[in-house]
Amino acid sequence: MKKVALVGLGFMGKMHYDVYSQRKDAKVYAIAEQDKRKLKGDWSSISGNIKGNKPAAVNLKGIKMVADYHELIGDKNIDWVDICLPTFMHKKVASDFLKAGHNVLVEKPVCPTLKDARELLSLKNKNKGTFMIAQCIRFWPGWNWAAEAIKKKKYGKVMHASFKRVSPPVLGWKSWFRDPNKSGGALLDLHIHDVDFIRWVFGKPQKILASGRKGKTGISHIYASYLYKGFTVCAEGGWDMPASYPFNMYFSIVCEKATLEYDLSKNPPFTVFLNGGKTIIPKIKTTTGWQEEIDYFISLIKGNKKQTFIKDREVLDTLAIIEKEKQSIITGKLKGF
Ligand SMILES: NC(=O)c1ccc[n+]([C@@H]2O[C@H](COP(=O)([O-])OP(=O)(O)OC[C@H]3O[C@@H](n4cnc5c(N)ncnc54)[C@H](O)[C@@H]3O)[C@@H](O)[C@H]2O)c1
Repeated sequence: MKKVALVGLGFMGKMHYDVYSQRKDAKVYAIAEQDKRKLKGDWSSISGNIKGNKPAAVNLKGIKMVADYHELIGDKNIDWVDICLPTFMHKKVASDFLKAGHNVLVEKPVCPTLKDARELLSLKNKNKGTFMIAQCIRFWPGWNWAAEAIKKKKYGKVMHASFKRVSPPVLGWKSWFRDPNKSGGALLDLHIHDVDFIRWVFGKPQKILASGRKGKTGISHIYASYLYKGFTVCAEGGWDMPASYPFNMYFSIVCEKATLEYDLSKNPPFTVFLNGGKTIIPKIKTTTGWQEEIDYFISLIKGNKKQTFIKDREVLDTLAIIEKEKQSIITGKLKGF
């Protein structure tokens, strides 16, 4: 039985807790969380923009509950540490655990800036622990199917593609999401899922043109075009939607022989529309990307393999693309690499 220490028990920490609770080969051994009510098992305050299991009173018998994560550093019972803290804390906390030899899974975005990410990855490379950023969309059933189909040119070349990810605003602990220095705003926090997927599947674009809405909480809504040789990809993302608007993620990838569409608001969400008039509903898993990424990470821990799926170069490119988008939004200019 593998043992995980969860650090941060907010919306994502609870989501990861639920994933571990469903597994037979792993269990939550410890939780570090500064909120005293959560430490005592009252999780009723946990909320986010996506529906999960309703948080309630939880029986924490057998789980080492600590307010200060430093108490977990060096604990030999821990097989890995799963960091679900606000983004601006990732670098310091991940570094503390990595330096002590721990394996670390850290939520996306890895850090609020490219500079911080570079420094953390460099530190990670000097230490032995297995390290992975939880870029869940690469693992998301339907999205991984589409990625594979595009890479293998199953439906010919891509002619163009569009992505959309929208949500009501989120606040988080002490409203940290509303501070662009802490969360990076919607541009980084939400839109990174699509930027990372686009970078992973289509490569680095030649040029980027972006516009968006900028306010006190940073760039809260983005319209970006990524110009490649022979085709264009665009992505809309933001958290300006009203509270009544359900979170949605969407893509439409138009290839020579078919269009691949994923729309979370539909059931089933993923369809392949063939040029000849037929449609295919590919058989995809009913799991979430969170379950799949954790499954992958546990397989790394068990096999003692090196993590090669999410490469440092890709992580840095994704953050560099987002920084170019920010410059394009501010200046109104096309940005190249
Ligand atoms: N992969 C996804 O789909 C997804 C979705 C939402 C959030 N996220 C990411 O997950 C991370 C966490 O976001 P969230 O929505 O869970 O935030 P949140 O505000 O809901 O939770 C943060 C938790 O950290 C706790 N905390 C703060 N300081 C602490 C400390 N020093 N020690 C221990 N606990 C501390 C807070 O009390 C709170 O419970 C962020 O990086 C966010 O971008 C990812």
